[in-house]
Amino acid sequence: MNPEQPVKLPDEQPTMRLPARPTDTNASGDIFGGWIMSQVDLAGAIVASRRAKGRVVTVAVNSFQFHKPVYVGDLISCYASVQKTGNTSITIFVEVYAERFPERTECIKVTEATLTYVAVDDNRKPRPVNQ
Ligand SMILES: CC(C)(COP(=O)(O)OP(=O)(O)OC[C@H]1O[C@@H](n2cnc3c(N)ncnc32)[C@H](O)[C@@H]1OP(=O)(O)O)[C@@H](O)C(=O)NCCC(=O)NCCS
Repeated sequence: MNPEQPVKLPDEQPTMRLPARPTDTNASGDIFGGWIMSQVDLAGAIVASRRAKGRVVTVAVNSFQFHKPVYVGDLISCYASVQKTGNTSITIFVEVYAERFPERTECIKVTEATLTYVAVDDNRKPRPVNQ
């Protein structure tokens, strides 16, 4: 898929959906990349902890690509899915789409990333995902 082109949102429910606000901007007035990374990590953790049936921590950001900028007022949708599971780890693929403010007729894929989470026990030690 060419991320430059407007697309349709995936049919399934997003893992998270939220607006980009003026408090999330960088010095140029566009949305700060660290804010987007934070939302991606949260969305990934939701799916990973659901799969692990408990607590997870992020161990690695394997890849992260900002295809297009996000602007104030855009409605952000994060779609996270399990890419693979190991013994204690779960790798999650996250795609982020922006519906542009105010018309919301144009939807752009702005970011995609893969992150790895580790299922941990009460002592923060790795535990098998399928326990
Ligand atoms: C995550 C953590 C518990 C792992 O502990 P550890 O003793 O290093 O565990 P291991 O070496 O046995 O690795 C655990 C799993 O993570 C995987 N892993 C470790 N480092 C990795 C990396 N850089 N990339 C991908 N996977 C990695 C291992 O392959 C293993 O997966 P598997 O069991 O499915 O084969 C520990 O490193 C930690 O607490 N890190 C800090 C986490 C954190 O604070 N995150 C930010 C806030 S959530």
